[in-house]
Amino acid sequence: MVHHRERERWATRIGLILAMAGNAVGLGNFLRFPVQAAENGGGAFMIPYIIAFLIIGIPLMWIEWAIGRYGGAHGHGTTPAIFHLLWKNPISKVIGVFGLWIPLVVIIYYIYIESWTLGFAIKFLLGLVPSIPADGADPNTYLKPFENFLVSYIGSGEEFIKPSGYAYLIFLITVVINILILSRGVSRGIEAFAKVAMPTLFILAVVLVVRVFTLETENGSALQGLNFLWKPDLSKLTDPGVWIAASGQIFFTLSLGFGAIITYASYIKKNQDITLSGLTASSLNETAEVVLGGSLAIPAAVAFFGVANAVAIAQSGAFNLGFISLPAIFANMPAGTFLGFLWFFLLFFAGLTSSLALMQPLIAFFEDEFGLSRKTSVYITAGIVFFSAHLVIFLNKSLDEMDFWAGTIGVVFFGLLEMVIFLWIFGGEKAWREINRGGIIQVPRFYYYVMRYITPIFLTVLLVVWAKEYIPKVMSETLWTVWVTRFYLIGLFLFLTLLVFIADRKKLKEASG
Ligand code: PHE
Repeated sequence: MVHHRERERWATRIGLILAMAGNAVGLGNFLRFPVQAAENGGGAFMIPYIIAFLIIGIPLMWIEWAIGRYGGAHGHGTTPAIFHLLWKNPISKVIGVFGLWIPLVVIIYYIYIESWTLGFAIKFLLGLVPSIPADGADPNTYLKPFENFLVSYIGSGEEFIKPSGYAYLIFLITVVINILILSRGVSRGIEAFAKVAMPTLFILAVVLVVRVFTLETENGSALQGLNFLWKPDLSKLTDPGVWIAASGQIFFTLSLGFGAIITYASYIKKNQDITLSGLTASSLNETAEVVLGGSLAIPAAVAFFGVANAVAIAQSGAFNLGFISLPAIFANMPAGTFLGFLWFFLLFFAGLTSSLALMQPLIAFFEDEFGLSRKTSVYITAGIVFFSAHLVIFLNKSLDEMDFWAGTIGVVFFGLLEMVIFLWIFGGEKAWREINRGGIIQVPRFYYYVMRYITPIFLTVLLVVWAKEYIPKVMSETLWTVWVTRFYLIGLFLFLTLLVFIADRKKLKEASG
């Protein structure tokens, strides 16, 4: 017998919006954005960024909300089944597997980085941090103790990495915290937590921004950092690299192309608004990113070290700005370790509401397609994530490889496929009605053409240039740890594909038996 279990729903509209904002606002806003902006020349980055938000971010957000709500109304929360509803061709299921694979691969490294933020927050709260150099020392010597601090935490090595026992313990605790929230369910777990975490996060960020803006040193002030970020540099607009970085950041920060927004949207009531709610959640994320995220790491680093050094720090490693220079800067202020604590606690809350969203697709898949209980689904998912994370924890360069294939190029590829399946195969007018159904506002017709033509063309060009530029570069890395990671990622994809087909067989049997 096929029995359709009642799927969960978000309890309130504000809860839905905060959960969606929690999904989007993450480490990407506070760590990835400043690094991308600094690496791409600050003012040169913001114009492509805003354009990408308007022609990729907003339309794709509406599309993902619509696809998810549609799937949820038919009892499905993940793309293998939903794409098959939209397109009755078996290949749609295999394409849909990417909507499970991408969030799974990303959570494998994301949750580990998230655990560092908790580990650092605790150390700063307890005051177990490096002592700072005496007054008047060369600012460059400020960084060294914090650099060592990070290295002794996560470990280092050419092939194997040996993290501290503390880092491993905190990683375990982070996984358990995620399990505890997720096993309470969508509304009682994720939604309830977002209602507390999101306001807290905004308050923490505002406090830190105020502190950064009252910072002045002989090297500069925070305002010079803002000037660097917001002074348009039109000469760089012809550099495709800047457009790729800006578009990639839009995907990552808005959680688009991961399948994670689709799964959250599948818990929206059948006729509830998505146009205004989707826009609101996106705007909250952009506020958190450009207003708050853009006013912390870069302005602080510029004030302390000057523009050129701040850029050099950002280029020296993805985590150096957030995990080395910002805590070093705070440490030189009164109550510095407490400010450091606030910073890492802010990151932890931002990361946590996002890791919940990255886990939920696979959980929903087990619940919807295998009929497993919520708890069992959470445990299986967390078990897979925990096991896989050992690659990232112990093998050098595994993290970057996962981030490239899933979190950078994979999402653009998948985002394009979503658009084609929804607006071309399912049908332009049908998709348009589905987006606007129940909407508090109607999407301007102009966006119909953006969704059908402009964005897909733009993404196609992006992918081609990208593939040509970066794939050879990435593939030239031949360290064995990278190859182990590549094979593991392929293995995960095959495993998920197998699960999709097993679930199908099971349903067929139940239907006939
Ligand atoms: N948007 C999140 C961030 O900025 C990352 C994320 C992607 C979270 C996909 C959930 C799903 O950090």
